Amino acid sequence: MSIANDNTASELTIRPLHTALGAEVRGLDLAAPLDEDSFQALHDAWMEYLVLVFPNQPLSDHQQIAFGRRFGELEVHHQEIIKSQSAPEIFRVSNVDDDGNLMTPDHPSVAQISLAQRWHTDSSYRPVPSMGSILHGIEITAAGGETWFTNMYDVHDALDETAKQRIAGSRARHDFGHLATLGPIKPLTETERRAMPPVWQPMARRHPVTGRTSLFISPIYNDAIEGMDDDDAVDLIAELNEFVGRDEFVYRHRWSQDDIVMWDNRCTMHHATPYDLATRRVMHRVTIVGEGPVEAA
Ligand code: OGA
Ligand code: MN
Repeated sequence: MSIANDNTASELTIRPLHTALGAEVRGLDLAAPLDEDSFQALHDAWMEYLVLVFPNQPLSDHQQIAFGRRFGELEVHHQEIIKSQSAPEIFRVSNVDDDGNLMTPDHPSVAQISLAQRWHTDSSYRPVPSMGSILHGIEITAAGGETWFTNMYDVHDALDETAKQRIAGSRARHDFGHLATLGPIKPLTETERRAMPPVWQPMARRHPVTGRTSLFISPIYNDAIEGMDDDDAVDLIAELNEFVGRDEFVYRHRWSQDDIVMWDNRCTMHHATPYDLATRRVMHRVTIVGEGPVEAA
């Protein structure tokens, strides 16, 4: 007899993982289609908890892509070395190449993936930054290699009035090319550079669904703030980068194999923690295109 999950919303169970953000969701089979009620229930949970963890979901790349498409169009990354050769919507968060071989720690794509060990939000350097990301833990590390998430609504609310004033009405520059100043990544080709010129984004943004205000920075891409000299801008970003990591804002995800974790890039940041680069770590991500330009709060 088949006991396949038919994905009814009534079977969905949600367990919060931290006071600030994160919830575990059970009772859905993400490989199967989601009907409208289940999708709505899931979307509501996503808006409430910002980060959802789905344990034990051994999706193929194509199933992961189909799940992601439920939320919107998917990004195709502008760099050849990061995306999968077999499915362009798959962003490879991996120290293993597309043929399955462990890369050396000095390989430019390992260097680039390692820059995700600093706080950031995905694709903030695009004119329309990403809505959210969905990451599948395929080969996970026994130690380290966790992913930490911070709630940028709470961060904004907790800023003192002076900081809120400084941020309100300000815009920060987000430049993919800034990564190259942080580590030995593969130099961008002319086409890749032209594909992603720097963009200016409001530092306080209004979430298009919840209407809440969050702080919008992405320190691995930020190199300037409008109307501020560059040293002051770097200092302010560094100060904020420190603040967002306080325990009360952060859920720390320790991976189990075939976890699917999805986060809202519009109101969170995340980073990986270090791990032994001699061990394999393979994660596949799909990245949902944002619904439109960022709205200043
Ligand atoms: C990402 C990312 C962190 C990690 O997939 O966008 O930053 O833990 N990953 O690999
Ligand atoms: Mn990321």
